Amino acid sequence: MGVWKLSVIVCLITTSRLAGQIPQPALPRPVSDAISSARPGGFVGSSVCRTCHPDVFQGFFRNPHYKSVASGKETPEKTGCEGCHGPGQKHLEALGGKATIPAAFSLMTPRQALDNCLGCHGKDVTRSDIRHSAHSQSEVACNSCHSVHRAATPKFLLAKRQTDLCYGCHQNVRSQFSMPFKHRVNEGFMNCTDCHNPHGSPSATWRMGLRPRMVAHALGNEEPCLKCHSDKRGPFAYEHAAVRVDGCEVCHSPHGATNAKLLRRTTVFTTCLECHNGAEGFGRQADGITSQSPSHDMRSPRYQNCTTCHVRIHGSNADRLFLR
Ligand code: HEC
Ligand code: HEC
Ligand code: HEC
Ligand code: HEC
Ligand code: HEC
Ligand code: HEC
Ligand code: HEC
Ligand code: HEC
Ligand code: HEC
Ligand code: HEC
Repeated sequence: MGVWKLSVIVCLITTSRLAGQIPQPALPRPVSDAISSARPGGFVGSSVCRTCHPDVFQGFFRNPHYKSVASGKETPEKTGCEGCHGPGQKHLEALGGKATIPAAFSLMTPRQALDNCLGCHGKDVTRSDIRHSAHSQSEVACNSCHSVHRAATPKFLLAKRQTDLCYGCHQNVRSQFSMPFKHRVNEGFMNCTDCHNPHGSPSATWRMGLRPRMVAHALGNEEPCLKCHSDKRGPFAYEHAAVRVDGCEVCHSPHGATNAKLLRRTTVFTTCLECHNGAEGFGRQADGITSQSPSHDMRSPRYQNCTTCHVRIHGSNADRLFLR
């Protein structure tokens, strides 16, 4: 679009605004055409928007939301610009303005933006319980993370590259991924979304209903960890209840740790003693008896590296005590 055309428009807008009493100047041709051919409900189509929003319009054909325009199969309220911003007729008649377009995101609350997007994305993202997610409840709405017109990643229309996006609000997590033992997120080997669903998640079937922490559910409602660490999936003839019921993070720090194998505790045996603190027989029952059996005495250094003997700590098909 020529510069002259733009200045004519700007000129028209200023004249109409400054001089209320002076007779309205003629509308630019594409605008008056669009108004006269408006569909019921005031839908004027997307091409007229180019007249005044060339920057936004320019890249729109590459946007996944352009599909509705290209196919021509959607109803007007689900097509193109008006699919999100609402019918444009009044906006054209007023020669623009924020207040005249039904959905101007700069004037909308996060809740309204969420409702707008869920008008079409209800099905794909509600399974994740988005309305109750920690993000929605803290007013982090779709457009905090997605940028429809100025996406940094063409795929998923993210406002920034994923890790930068998440670290932007979760500074403390960055340092966890810089610890000596960590998952390689900062190195670009994996993403937050390999384990989290930023749209939320229903209560976990593991961890006995602790806060879901938006940890993604993989396959049959299992922990996302098992997508990659599939050898820990089982089912095992002899399950270690802690793995199945409490979940991996009862022993491991999922992001990073100063301890080898991402353990939460500096040594293996302190990890185990959180639960196996019943004394007699070194069992699980916390029966208050503090004496150790001579054949299995945790005070002896020999017994402190539990997993040198209990090697199949995640579950075993051969031994009830995970010894092989
Ligand atoms: C998928 C929904 C959606 C579609 C489709 C859409 N927009 Fe937007 N638009 C937004 C959102 C959300 C914003 C707020 C800024 C942001 O988050 O990127 C916005 C912002 C704007 C703005 C404000 C200024 C700016 O550059 O951010 C203009 C103007 C605009 N859109 C025009 C259009 C036009 C013209 C079209 C069609 C070519 C269109 N929009 C299609 C969602 C949409
Ligand atoms: C005659 C020029 C003109 C046409 C045609 C036009 N707009 Fe606008 N539009 C404007 C002006 C001027 C503004 C106000 C900009 C401002 O105040 O920052 C505006 C603002 C907007 C905003 C508000 C963005 C925000 O959140 O602040 C949206 C959305 C928008 N237009 C969408 C559209 C859509 C969709 C179409 C096509 C149906 C369209 N416009 C056609 C001139 C126009
Ligand atoms: C906290 C940031 C964040 C918020 C808030 C958010 N998203 Fe997303 N969204 C993402 C990320 C990151 C991805 C990419 C997921 C991936 O890499 O697998 C994504 C992917 C998507 C996808 C494509 C893949 C899919 O899951 O279907 C859609 C559609 C989507 N988001 C829509 C929305 C809508 C609609 C909202 C608001 C109701 C929203 N998002 C809110 C971060 C967010
Ligand atoms: C009028 C219906 C409609 C509305 C409203 C809508 N979308 Fe979409 N959105 C779609 C369709 C259709 C697709 C394309 C799905 C496909 O690729 O098959 C899509 C795709 C997406 C994608 C996925 C891009 C990808 O690479 O997979 C994201 C992210 C997204 N929309 C975000 C949003 C956000 C944020 C809003 C609100 C500002 C929004 N959408 C509003 C219909 C809509
Ligand atoms: C290897 C899987 C994994 C990856 C990758 C991952 N997380 Fe997590 N994250 C988890 C698990 C599991 C929890 C729950 C931990 C718990 O409840 O003890 C969690 C908890 C969280 C929490 C809430 C706990 C707290 O400390 O307040 C935030 C915030 C978080 N993750 C952000 C992120 C961000 C941001 C990224 C990417 C930079 C990321 N996570 C990558 C698995 C992961
Ligand atoms: C605009 C800021 C913002 C962005 C961007 C953002 N978050 Fe959050 N996130 C929050 C807020 C606010 C909370 C809720 C308060 C809290 O727990 O810190 C939250 C909470 C979380 C939680 C904890 C949920 C719980 O139940 O405690 C996880 C996990 C999380 N975000 C992951 C992510 C991931 C992954 C990304 C990137 C895809 C991301 N966040 C992007 C602001 C953001
Ligand atoms: C996307 C694949 C992927 C997911 C999902 C994943 N991991 Fe990992 N994990 C790896 C890779 C690859 C390594 C090897 C370390 C490296 O070089 O990055 C690793 C390393 C580990 C280690 C340390 C192993 C060692 O020998 O030091 C532990 C423990 C671990 N992951 C636990 C988990 C837990 C718990 C979860 C879920 C919260 C999880 N992982 C999710 C890929 C994944
Ligand atoms: C009861 C505590 C506990 C639970 C629960 C647990 N782990 Fe472990 N895990 C350990 C210990 C202890 C080690 C270190 C073993 C060693 O030093 O030989 C380990 C080592 C690992 C390793 C590296 C060595 C290997 O065997 O590959 C990975 C990967 C791992 N765990 C993943 C997981 C995943 C995934 C889950 C959830 C399905 C999980 N862990 C649940 C205690 C646990
Ligand atoms: C979160 C709690 C928890 C942690 C941490 C934990 N366990 Fe367990 N462990 C259990 C429970 C619960 C059982 C099942 C008890 C039952 O079936 O009666 C069990 C069973 C066992 C058994 C089989 C005993 C039997 O009588 O069937 C062994 C051996 C064992 N754990 C070793 C370990 C070792 C070694 C560690 C440290 C790497 C560890 N556990 C960490 C909770 C835990
Ligand atoms: C030198 C090898 C070895 C080491 C090290 C070892 N165990 Fe054992 N553990 C065994 C053997 C063998 C048995 C079965 C016979 C017995 O009870 O003495 C057993 C039995 C158990 C049982 C089942 C006992 C019961 O009565 O329920 C638990 C629980 C257990 N060990 C936990 C641990 C923990 C926790 C550690 C680390 C502090 C540890 N073990 C270190 C070899 C070992």
